[in-house]
Amino acid sequence: VTIDGPAGAGKSTVAKLLASRLGYLYLDTGALYRALAWKVQTLGVNPREPQAVEAVLAATTVSMEYDPSRPRVAVDGQDVTDLIRTPAVSRIASEISAYPAVRAWLLPVQRRIGAEGGVVGEGRDLGTQVFPAAAHKFFLDAAVDVRANRRHRELADQCAALDRTRAELEARDRQDRDREVAPLVAAPDAVVIDSTTLSVEQVVDRMMSVIATAQP
Ligand code: DC
Repeated sequence: VTIDGPAGAGKSTVAKLLASRLGYLYLDTGALYRALAWKVQTLGVNPREPQAVEAVLAATTVSMEYDPSRPRVAVDGQDVTDLIRTPAVSRIASEISAYPAVRAWLLPVQRRIGAEGGVVGEGRDLGTQVFPAAAHKFFLDAAVDVRANRRHRELADQCAALDRTRAELEARDRQDRDREVAPLVAAPDAVVIDSTTLSVEQVVDRMMSVIATAQP
């Protein structure tokens, strides 16, 4: 099952709950881009220099744990799960995700877990690029004000200002939608769900009914 969509649409919460209900693994592909971004940041590499970022790839390993109740991500064996949800890492992840070499490097990492079957994956290009043959594809969207509010609440303990959070979210979406390689777009065969006025439970119920009624 693939769930793509812009930042703050509720993909993570929904994907984890859906994976739990189905008894599937949970693959947070954004966490892979974020883990790499965290390493780029920690090394002091300029994310605007594609060659410098590419040089990091050769000496890097990323790994994940896929249980929806406790997903973890590690870089070079170090658990970075709690370090990658900062605005700076979000921005760097979006920047470096536009580089073809970065996407090509993370593609087999994602497909390896997908090949095990029984996976709910969330990201930007899962239905279009990573798992084009997925059994069920969703594109989760929501009005920008609602997405900014949700992200703002998540960042509350980091004292982020709402207008700044909204501006960063819009800049990141623009960057993710406008890039040349694997831009954020709904797959032609994805079911689009607008979560603006829906609760998490309502979104997951709708997905469960789409999955239940799909032709085998
Ligand atoms: O889902 P997220 O906000 O954690 O993702 C962080 C960034 O990673 C996002 O702005 C773009 C990039 N990304 C991507 O290009 N493709 C994916 N499948 C997932 C994330």
